[in-house]
Amino acid sequence: MWSKTMLVVFINIVFIHCLSVNIGAAVANPAASDGRFVHHGFTAEDLTMDGLAAVTPTGLLALTNATYQTKAHAFHPAPLRFLNTSSSAAATVRSFSTSFVFAIVSDDPRFRNNVDHGLAFVVSPTKNLSTANAGQYLGLLSMADDGKPSNHVFAVELDIITNPEFGDIDSNHVGVDVNSLRSLQAKTAGYYVDGDGAFRSLQLNSQKPMQVWVDYDGQAKQLNVTLSPVQVPKPKKPLLSQAIDLSTVMAEEMYVGFSSATGVVFTHHYVLGWSFSFDGGAAPSLDFSMLPKVPRVGPTRRSVMLYVVLPIASALLFLVAFVLGVFFFVRRWHRQYAEVREDWEVEFGPHRFTYKDLFHATQGFTDKNLLGAGGFGSVYKGVLPVSNTEIAVKRVSHNSRQGMREFIAEVVSIGRIRHRNIVRLLGYCRRKGELLLVYDYKTNGSLDKCLHDNATSTTLCWPKRIHIIKGVASALSYLHKDWEQVVIHRDVKASNVLLDSEMNGLLGDFGLSRLRDHGADAKTTYVVGTMGYIAPELMHTGKATPLTDVFAFGVFLLEVTCGRRPIGESDSNEILLIDWVLKHFLSGSILDVVDPRLAGRFSFEEVNLVLKLGLMCSHPLPKARPSMDRVVKYLDGMLPAPELSPTHMSYNMMELMLQNGVGSHSLPVWSSLLDSSVGTMSSASVLSDGR
Ligand SMILES: *[C@@H]1O[C@H](CO)[C@@H](O)[C@H](O)[C@H]1NC(C)=O
Ligand SMILES: *[C@@H]1O[C@H](CO)[C@@H](O)[C@H](O)[C@H]1NC(C)=O
Ligand SMILES: *[C@@H]1O[C@H](CO)[C@@H](O)[C@H](O)[C@H]1NC(C)=O
Ligand SMILES: *[C@@H]1O[C@H](CO)[C@@H](O)[C@H](O)[C@H]1NC(C)=O
Repeated sequence: MWSKTMLVVFINIVFIHCLSVNIGAAVANPAASDGRFVHHGFTAEDLTMDGLAAVTPTGLLALTNATYQTKAHAFHPAPLRFLNTSSSAAATVRSFSTSFVFAIVSDDPRFRNNVDHGLAFVVSPTKNLSTANAGQYLGLLSMADDGKPSNHVFAVELDIITNPEFGDIDSNHVGVDVNSLRSLQAKTAGYYVDGDGAFRSLQLNSQKPMQVWVDYDGQAKQLNVTLSPVQVPKPKKPLLSQAIDLSTVMAEEMYVGFSSATGVVFTHHYVLGWSFSFDGGAAPSLDFSMLPKVPRVGPTRRSVMLYVVLPIASALLFLVAFVLGVFFFVRRWHRQYAEVREDWEVEFGPHRFTYKDLFHATQGFTDKNLLGAGGFGSVYKGVLPVSNTEIAVKRVSHNSRQGMREFIAEVVSIGRIRHRNIVRLLGYCRRKGELLLVYDYKTNGSLDKCLHDNATSTTLCWPKRIHIIKGVASALSYLHKDWEQVVIHRDVKASNVLLDSEMNGLLGDFGLSRLRDHGADAKTTYVVGTMGYIAPELMHTGKATPLTDVFAFGVFLLEVTCGRRPIGESDSNEILLIDWVLKHFLSGSILDVVDPRLAGRFSFEEVNLVLKLGLMCSHPLPKARPSMDRVVKYLDGMLPAPELSPTHMSYNMMELMLQNGVGSHSLPVWSSLLDSSVGTMSSASVLSDGR
């Protein structure tokens, strides 16, 4: 019983509640339909359309499409009550606000200006505008009824053509129309910037979406129309403000919507969003991010850029880049491998290497392949591409063409020399300002390095030294006497003796000094050779002879035996090796000069012989020096060891050098030799100080 009552009460409560909700909804609906609406894009149900008007799949209201002289209308389906009938007196018009976003797109950019018609926001007593004309009538009115008060049509036109019959101000204007297309007031499209109030004009058919506000104050009987680009919030100052009493225009029920018409140019009129409200409430604002996008049609400026200019430009750019690339590549290739070739070189063809081969053989002359850098240039190790021959490439910078022919002839001729103690010159290559000489590669580097480089831990033992000495002697003897012509080496020294894997000494670097002879400054005949190895008479006359080679060989013998450089220090004095050895020779302490690193492990006879020969060969008077032929015989024991009388040997090489060499004209000689000599910088300064 109790529960039954409770149930009835409960049901009643639920029923009443539902009823009240239903009543609420019933009350809310007419309120909602009373003018206020907002559309971000449209569906077909949102609008009553005729003519060309259609809603696109993206929700865009496309009033017109590419069709000539046709109308389009789209109305809010329900009629709106604009009149305030509650007042007993004459009816007044309710305040209203509407806002919409539109875009006008002309297919053909050539006709952007002037040629087609616009669209209008319209308030009309009927949705049936079938009698209206297209074209300049915007589908609003007909030629027959234009201007008649019976039309009851109010419109805000966005016109993009000048119609003189309606007194249009220009081809890009906003106008207020009542019953006629002759506007009550019209203004060139644009807006007033908030703040400074500056006017910015806008192109209605620019394809860009723009927003329009139409606000009517029923009390003040004032109509405001405002326009702005969608990015700009509603400007405070309206584009046009018109005092107007719409009460004579408005009928009991009115329809709001849009009207548009095409002329002879394909133009699209789009409405993207729309809101409306009555009675002083601002039209609901539109959220642009929710609006559909305006489609790009026809060859717009941007698409012309995109599809015509850009591809052509990029193709051109690519072509130019490609041609430039090829050009620079070829030029670089050409430069990288460029050589100097002259007609006379044809006969030396077989001895000529291409720079490209040498470049690749030495891996582009990388530092990794650098064997050493001396006075005449840098030497690189390489492997010839096809034959896999190991080579040493000497790059000599040489800027003069003078004497080049003779030099190359000599290089080629020397290249034919086959002797087991002579480094084979395989050929050459010429480039601008540069000469490249290609030699057989010798695994153990130069004797100079072996002898003086403390980094090499193993000391060259005496048997190896005498072996090397004999080898170099036989090479020089061969050059002086046995070869088809007399060849003067001109630069015998430890660093020009290379060692192969079996520690054979091979004489290399022929005639380079000769090249120096024909240096850039032809007026100065530089004495060539290397400080400390230069015979006094060579200093004096500048003429190289086999005996100047013998002198250098004498110094070389002393150097190898003593393990000292030709010019060195002793008792903190700069002295010539020759003088130092001679001093010990004369004082009977000759064994004191022998390289202490040999630690006494040597044959006394051999050392004695070599030192004696060294002194003999480096005698200041050329006539007192033996020929290389004889030197070889002494070394081989085919001639008894020569005797040196102390009187015969009473000279001081340093003094002789100073007397002969450092004359007033020959200071440049010394300085010019600095770069090509080993350890001569200090001695040269001492020598000049010594004057
Ligand atoms: C334009 O719209 C009309 C009516 O909807 C249609 O018949 C016509 O095919 C359309 N034309 C173009 C080019 O889209
Ligand atoms: C209608 O008019 C009366 C008197 O003129 C006014 O008081 C009232 O607010 C108006 N109503 C609307 C909805 O404008
Ligand atoms: C529109 O009005 C015309 C006459 O003015 C009439 O012939 C036509 O049927 C009407 N159309 C609609 C859809 O009511
Ligand atoms: C129209 O604009 C003026 C300022 O230019 C303003 O005072 C007035 O309130 C506006 N009226 C409406 C209905 O927006």
